Formats: sequence, C-alpha cells, structure tokens
Amino acid sequence: MKEQIEKYLVEVAAFNSNVLQEIEQLRIRFLGKKGILGELFEAFKTVPGPDKKEAGILLNTLKNAVQEKINELRTSSEESVAEQNTTEIDLTRPVGFYETGSRHPVAIVRNRMVAIFQNMGFSVAEGPEIEDDWHNFSALNFPPDHPARDMQDTFFIEKRSSGNDISLRTHTSSVQVRTMEQTRPPIRMVFPGRVFRNEAISARSHCIFHQVEGLYIDKNVSFADLKQTLLHFAREMFGEQTQIRLRPSYFPFTEPSAEMDISCNLCGGKGCNICKYTGWIEILGCGMIDPAVLESCGIDTEMYTGYAFGIGIERMTMGLFQVKDIRMFFENDIRFLKQFGSVV
Ligand code: DAH
Repeated sequence: MKEQIEKYLVEVAAFNSNVLQEIEQLRIRFLGKKGILGELFEAFKTVPGPDKKEAGILLNTLKNAVQEKINELRTSSEESVAEQNTTEIDLTRPVGFYETGSRHPVAIVRNRMVAIFQNMGFSVAEGPEIEDDWHNFSALNFPPDHPARDMQDTFFIEKRSSGNDISLRTHTSSVQVRTMEQTRPPIRMVFPGRVFRNEAISARSHCIFHQVEGLYIDKNVSFADLKQTLLHFAREMFGEQTQIRLRPSYFPFTEPSAEMDISCNLCGGKGCNICKYTGWIEILGCGMIDPAVLESCGIDTEMYTGYAFGIGIERMTMGLFQVKDIRMFFENDIRFLKQFGSVV
C-alpha cells in the first residue's frame, strides 16, 4: 500500500492541465465516491497495527496533495482567466475617474472678496432677498417718485397702500440699512448676496446677479480711508501692479459718490476688447454715506461719518476668468462649470 500511495503522489505532483474538464476528471478519479482515496481508506482498515501510523500519514498527504493540486489548477485554468477578464476584478485595467464637483465661479470670487475684507477687520452679514420699500429704497434716501428709483428696475411682489411695497431687493444696500438700524458704530461689515433687477438680459447684464457691499461707520471716517481700503482690495484681488481711478458719480445714499475703475489687468492699460480700449475697467460704486441715511437709521451724524461701497461679483468674475457672457453663470452648463474645478 505504501508503494501504491507513493506512486499516486508522484502522479499527482506531475499532473498539469489548464482545461477545467481534465481537472474535474482528476478530482473524480481520486476524490469521487468510488475514487482511489475511498478505496485506499477502505484498505487502510486492514493494515496491520504497527504499519497503521505511517500509512495514515501517507494517506492524508495524498488527500491534501490532490486537493491542493485541484485548487491550484482551477484558479489558473483557461476558463477562470477568461472569466476574470470579463468581470470588474481585472487588476490590469486603468482606474476609473470620479467626477468631483466644483465651486461655482461666482462663489469662488465672492469667497475671495469676502476674505480680503475679513483680513482688514470687516465682519460679514446677510439679509432677506424679499425686501420692503423702506429697506431697499426709502431709508437709502430714494424719496417716493424720485427719478433715482428708475435707476433700478424692480420686480414687485406686492403693492401696499402704505407705500411700503414688497419687492425682490435690487441691491444688498438693504442689508446695510438693516445693520445700521440694529447695530451701533463702529460698524465695519460686508454684505454678500444675490440681487434682482427687471432688466433685459444680454451678454453684459442679467436680471439676477450678486454683489458684495461694504460699510464702515466710525468717528472721523474720511474719503481717504475709503480710497485706501479700495486700493488695498484691488491690489489683493488683481495683483500688486493694479492702479485705481475714482470718477465722480451719483447715488442717492452717498455724497460725494464715485465709481471706481481698475487698470485693465489683461492689456496692462494699453487697451483691449475687455476694457473697450480705454485701459480701465469699472468695478464698483462707492461714496461717503449721506447723513440723511445715517439719520434714517438712528445714527448720530454729529458724532459719526461713514463710507459705503457696492461691488458686482459677476463683473469681477468675468474680468478674472475672461468670461465674455454673463448668462453663462446662470445656465448651469456643466461643461462651463467644471472648468473651475481646480480653482478654490
Ligand atoms: N447699491 C449700488 C448699486 O446696486 C451700489 C453701491 C454704490 C453701493 C455705492 C454702495 C455705494 O454702498 O456706496 O448699484
């Protein structure tokens, strides 16, 4: 019996095949119901006592050798290799890429703008998008029927007999009013948010856009403070070489009022189609807060002065990323939006 088992061991060790059917035949021959191992275990019963131990060990060795051989050949058999190639566990395949989301370009620029002002000590507040006439217009020195109201075409929601009509806010200056009413100076804050105007939509203007407005009220705040703050902002945003230019303007809530341009960062001031060949790009409105506005909000005009500014975020984003059409920001076209995935 010993020699017999040793012969089988040699045979099993030498057996090789990558055809599943042949491997199965080996299994049936050795491990099947009427297989060789069954017969040998049967014969083992009659082995004389002194030889039993050695024969038992040999028998188990053969059994394990057959089992191991079958397992090994099965995994490398043609069929199983072919099967692996058709399932996802082909480790040689290149990894798939995940489409990660990205921030909206307007959000990227808003966050940068807010961060620059926060570094200068400004805190941040937000307010409602649905506003009443008082906070959006009257407290900001737009008298009823004043032509200045036409500057901002409004989406009305509800006309009220009191005159305090409800509308979508046309600027975040309404949050300035809410803040001035509720907080005592010194106030140094910025107000990012979405605003709405009943305007024809074109490549340069939209009925929805975003602003960051700002406010600084304290003792002895001057126009020089305003200018220096905005110069610092422009240089942080567009680079150290950026120049600013203030032009006289008109807003009902500031006196004096100005609009600020920055030197065109694309052509360096030489003139290109982005700056319409002027070398300058208009980015914001600003001015010293009209004392009438401070009084409307209960702030002592003998003691305090302040400046305010309002910046359009889309205009800024168009300049920074060379986007030629404002409508792209609102179309949710994934091909446009995913281009900003690497910018934070
Ligand atoms: N509210 C103005 C607008 O929407 C922008 C603005 C201009 C805001 C001057 C200000 C300011 O606070 O001082 O066009």
